[in-house]
Amino acid sequence: MSNAQRNFDKAVVVDKVRKTFGDFVALHEVSFEVGRGEVLGLLGPNGAGKTTLVDILSTLSRPDSGRAVVAGYDVVTEAPGVRRSIMLTGQQVALDETLTGLENLYMFGRLFGLKKQAARGRAKELIEEFDLAYAADRRVKTYSGGMRRRIDIACGLVVPPQVVFLDEPTTGLDPRSRQSIWDLVSHFQDRGIATLLTTQYLEEADAMADRIIVIDHGRVIAEGTADELKARTGGSYCEIVPVDLNDLQAIADTLGSLLPEKNRASLTGESDRIHMPAPHGATTLLEAVGRLAAANIPVADVALRRPSLDDVFLSLTEDSPQPRRGVPEVVS
Ligand SMILES: Nc1ncnc2c1ncn2[C@@H]1O[C@H](COP(=O)(O)OP(=O)(O)OP(=O)(O)O)[C@@H](O)[C@H]1O
Ligand SMILES: [Mg+2]
Repeated sequence: MSNAQRNFDKAVVVDKVRKTFGDFVALHEVSFEVGRGEVLGLLGPNGAGKTTLVDILSTLSRPDSGRAVVAGYDVVTEAPGVRRSIMLTGQQVALDETLTGLENLYMFGRLFGLKKQAARGRAKELIEEFDLAYAADRRVKTYSGGMRRRIDIACGLVVPPQVVFLDEPTTGLDPRSRQSIWDLVSHFQDRGIATLLTTQYLEEADAMADRIIVIDHGRVIAEGTADELKARTGGSYCEIVPVDLNDLQAIADTLGSLLPEKNRASLTGESDRIHMPAPHGATTLLEAVGRLAAANIPVADVALRRPSLDDVFLSLTEDSPQPRRGVPEVVS
């Protein structure tokens, strides 16, 4: 197998890609680009079309119309070139459960055309890089979920790719394993490898991505950096829960100018907490806590919250006359 790669400008170009399943339109003419070495976060709720898109870009399925180019190769007419240039993690990579971690890596090296000695050397390198040396000679079927995820990714890196697709790579992982995925993405970034990462969590896209595309119901509804998206959602906010619900009004009064009219007006008899914008993050929170302490009002909980994916969606669709999941503004 040839490992020759083509020169390219953009790591990924998606141009009006459409995909239907029977009558159902999973992707409506989606367009975007990923630069060389860029980490693009593809953010969207369940069913948004993230996996459908990753499947098309990794040649596992074909678009109905439109065009997509990965590492300079067209995903339909030059699929073998695409496959040579990418790494895809998820359930798709076929690990052999009866082989050890090291043997799996060796086997992938051989499949990718490495000579025996090179494949052995690469397998050792990767098993160490992924902190699995202690389990190198154990069969993969005895690995935990997190270990499996790591060996799965390591197998995809036997021959370094140009573009990496990570489809919800941290779903179901513990915090330590999640951190190791985040580290891995920055390692790709350092080596100029482009990453397209799907996630349902704004926080995760925020931690890893240079740029974020939000998709919903198969359409791109927003695009920008995490900060730009957060600015559109109003940024961070404080949540203040009183010990005694009868204190809600007193808290609102004590917060004074910190609490905008809009938030004050949204307080009802049903409210059990106060939401207050925190334009200066922790500084705003401390100011609020200081005022409440000075007024001797006991609080049960005070938290600084960053906008969630739900907040992003709400703010993107709140001006729309349709229900929340109506036809959203198209930015692409
Ligand atoms: N093979 C298929 N046949 C019919 N419908 C499909 C098929 N694959 C996906 N869909 C539908 O297309 C839509 C998009 O699915 P997709 O798996 O791309 O979503 P997703 O954004 O990856 O969601 P999740 O966060 O749950 O993984 C969903 O409504 C799904 O039911
Ligand atoms: Mg999916």
